Amino acid sequence: MPLATIAFQKPVRPETGTLVLLAEDGGALGAAAKALDEATGGTLARALSASAFKGKQFATLEILAPAGSALDRILVVGLGKPAEMKENDWSRLGGTVLGKLADLKVEEAVLMLDRADGGAFEPAVAAEVALGAVLRSYRFDRYKTKKKDDEANGGKSVRLTLALEGHAAAKKAWSRLQGVAEGVVVARDLVIEPPNVLSPEEFARRARELEKLGVEVEVLNEKEMKKLGMGAFLGVGQGSSRPPRLVVMRWNGGKDKDKPVAFIGKGVVFDTGGISIKPAQGMEDMKGDMAGAACVTGLMHALAARKAKVNVIGAIGVVENMPDGNAQRPGDIVKSMSGQTIEIINTDAEGRLVLADVLWYVKETYQPRFMLDLATLTGAIMVALGKVYAGMFSTSDDLAAQLSAAGDATGERVWRMPLAADYDKMIDSQFADMKNTGGRFGGSITAAQFLKRFVGDTPWVHLDIAGTGMDSTHTETSKAWASGWGVRLLDRLVAENYEK
Ligand code: BES
Ligand code: MN
Ligand code: ZN
Repeated sequence: MPLATIAFQKPVRPETGTLVLLAEDGGALGAAAKALDEATGGTLARALSASAFKGKQFATLEILAPAGSALDRILVVGLGKPAEMKENDWSRLGGTVLGKLADLKVEEAVLMLDRADGGAFEPAVAAEVALGAVLRSYRFDRYKTKKKDDEANGGKSVRLTLALEGHAAAKKAWSRLQGVAEGVVVARDLVIEPPNVLSPEEFARRARELEKLGVEVEVLNEKEMKKLGMGAFLGVGQGSSRPPRLVVMRWNGGKDKDKPVAFIGKGVVFDTGGISIKPAQGMEDMKGDMAGAACVTGLMHALAARKAKVNVIGAIGVVENMPDGNAQRPGDIVKSMSGQTIEIINTDAEGRLVLADVLWYVKETYQPRFMLDLATLTGAIMVALGKVYAGMFSTSDDLAAQLSAAGDATGERVWRMPLAADYDKMIDSQFADMKNTGGRFGGSITAAQFLKRFVGDTPWVHLDIAGTGMDSTHTETSKAWASGWGVRLLDRLVAENYEK
């Protein structure tokens, strides 16, 4: 199904078709709903009371062919208490409306965005509603060859018009968020794309499409990485017939002299575990082991699309981890670009090896204001935090606080985890400078300690998104296998703190 399309208009109630109305906690109707109720001799109030509809948050009620009007249907959506609606709750509301419309096979509807007390909602609220609706309408069906009639909305897209007082300002707010929505879609598509199609080379080709938006894209091949001394990164790809790529995307929306901020993503297009091979059960999910890189690519799209006033580096290490006659072995010692040597204990702890060289490269090449990496790095983070919060590790309290706030606003939440020297010594090796695993306990922390050895003094954050980046929990705004986690979060981080 194509994505929903959004329009805005004056708060004028349509006479025909499908009308979506809001009801607040306790059942109080918005202004448009009240007026309709009066015009129809109480049709609405009667329907609400007959179905005991109380305006509970995200509850819905469908009224077909309402008496006294020419409308086909009214969909009433519960808002709960408007004062308690946080930013992301408005997206969830938009997602709820879109989901319901698609289920009902409605192609076009008008949503009256108004309050029970007669006041108007902020334009930003409408933009969030639009964002939620578009994200909810996402579907990955490019490989389905059968007719889509039995799908939601018969495979047709929904056109949703938001009617409110500040419609012109809302449209403007949405034009900015639309870029973010596109970025989320880019990330979702990349994560869900099957691994036979999404080779490192193909991933690089897709990143290059950002050039259309004015992003500079540079792709380093194996030979160039070898020359830079990226032995940690290259060791991971050694067993694959499809060579690795290091992709650097640059968006220069800030002043020339401003140092960039940098986002780094783990892009393992398929993680078999290598010689330390994973069990067969669920291995297909490891196509999503590039969710960090997908997020960075989607974020670059979002920032470029909305012409963010900031200089940004997006760097992704894209590689496949395969068992093979030429694959890396446990016991191997590799030399990273930083000069530090690493003893491979487990070839399945590959993400940190890739990131070690990409982090060092970005630090050396761009001296960024901060580096933030995202990686589906450890199963252990799911043991700690489930699939709700991503694990956050940071050397900067300021960055950590900025991310926590951005997470609460966007609903892409992060939970800070510790770093400490006592964990760091768990990855000391008897034969090299360090080893790539730290034993059974604190697996997410020792992985973060490993990365920390490659960031120097640059303020740094690591987000372990193994739980949130793939096989995502379904929400009002995402029914997809990958929610595109992190694009909204990092767009917000940048907008709030680095664009002024
Ligand atoms: N890509 C995996 C982590 C992962 C697991 C992501 C499940 C998403 C879902 C990573 O490369 C990995 O294999 N990590 C190992 C590390 C261990 C060998 C130290 C793990 O978590 O088991
Ligand atoms: Mn692995
Ligand atoms: Zn992995």
